[in-house]
Amino acid sequence: MDIQTNKQLSDLTTMRIGGTAHFVATVTSPQEVATVYQNAQRLKQNIIVLGGGSNVIAHDEGFDGVIVLNKIPGFEVIEDTGDSTTIKIGAGELWDSVVERSVTMGLSGIAALSAIPGTAGAAPVQNIGAYGQEIADTLVSLEAYDTQQNSFVQLSWQDCGFSYRHSIFRGSQQGRYVIVSITLKLYKAAPQPPFYTALQTYLDEHNITNYTVQAIRDAVIAIRAKKLPDPAKLPNTGSFFKNAIVEDWLYNDLKAKYPDMPGYEMDATHHKIPTGWLIQEAGFKGQVINGMKVHSDNALVLINQSAKGYADLAAAREEIISTVRDTFRITIEQEPLEI
Ligand code: EPU
Repeated sequence: MDIQTNKQLSDLTTMRIGGTAHFVATVTSPQEVATVYQNAQRLKQNIIVLGGGSNVIAHDEGFDGVIVLNKIPGFEVIEDTGDSTTIKIGAGELWDSVVERSVTMGLSGIAALSAIPGTAGAAPVQNIGAYGQEIADTLVSLEAYDTQQNSFVQLSWQDCGFSYRHSIFRGSQQGRYVIVSITLKLYKAAPQPPFYTALQTYLDEHNITNYTVQAIRDAVIAIRAKKLPDPAKLPNTGSFFKNAIVEDWLYNDLKAKYPDMPGYEMDATHHKIPTGWLIQEAGFKGQVINGMKVHSDNALVLINQSAKGYADLAAAREEIISTVRDTFRITIEQEPLEI
């Protein structure tokens, strides 16, 4: 296990904000996870785990404890049937390398989740989703270190409590489990339309009618490159806010006032409204607030252009949230977690 001292959280997170982390321990096996947690508990140190840092906002005060960088490798076919292949993946694998390998194997199920930054182990935490797929659609189980019981446990899909951009790992059980592997069941059949509108439009515009997994992956990579800035070049965490889920009475009220407002039926009583549209309509697209830029191609993304620290980000966030609330009576929520 590699342990370093006094590392900057701004170097470990893609928003590039955050102070000093006292210890950073890089783990490459489940056993090392158990060891580092047991030592931290013995020494009464705070401890948290980070994957790629691409969905996390850090504070200027830093972290007075141990940051665990999860680099556990692994990609193992554990079951192969006529129509599906089940793969166990180490939590430290880069998510997009996992997607690439699955696509090379001709497997369906996660191709629309191409080019999402971060690690495989972080993917279930926020139930990553894009272009009509969520990891909850293919995840069958995962293995985690239970820091309450000091033992390894297997959690089923049901145990994970998935919903839109949510799971128990960022909800009721936040901080309890360290995910060490995930198991996905992928399919041998080619992807089936209907596809997510933006994806179908891209396929039609490029005259792509042979819907192979590779074609879906290539299309998603091309669409994302236009809408989502590369965090290695422009510091960001992807969507900074969740889309808004509102009751139908409010949706109908707003729709009467803003006929162009997009919206999708969620269930019998709720609609989802794209927060990117709300922020754009509130006039923020392309604006820079305290060094935080509302992306010109996608108002859901905030880019750290020259923020001096967390306080600048927080002030920009509050200005956007309060203006959207005053304009639409909707309180939008931040999507990335905070440490
Ligand atoms: N829109 C605007 N203005 C904007 C941005 C979006 O009007 O500045 C409108 C679009 O015109 C469209 C609608 O909002 O009608 C939806 O836009 P899009 O399909 O680009 O997706 P999104 O709702 O903004 C969500 C996810 C993304 C995911 C895409 C594609 C969330 C918080 N975000 O964004 O996920 O890639 O759908 O499926 O659910 C992420 O979570 O970090 C992320 C990038």
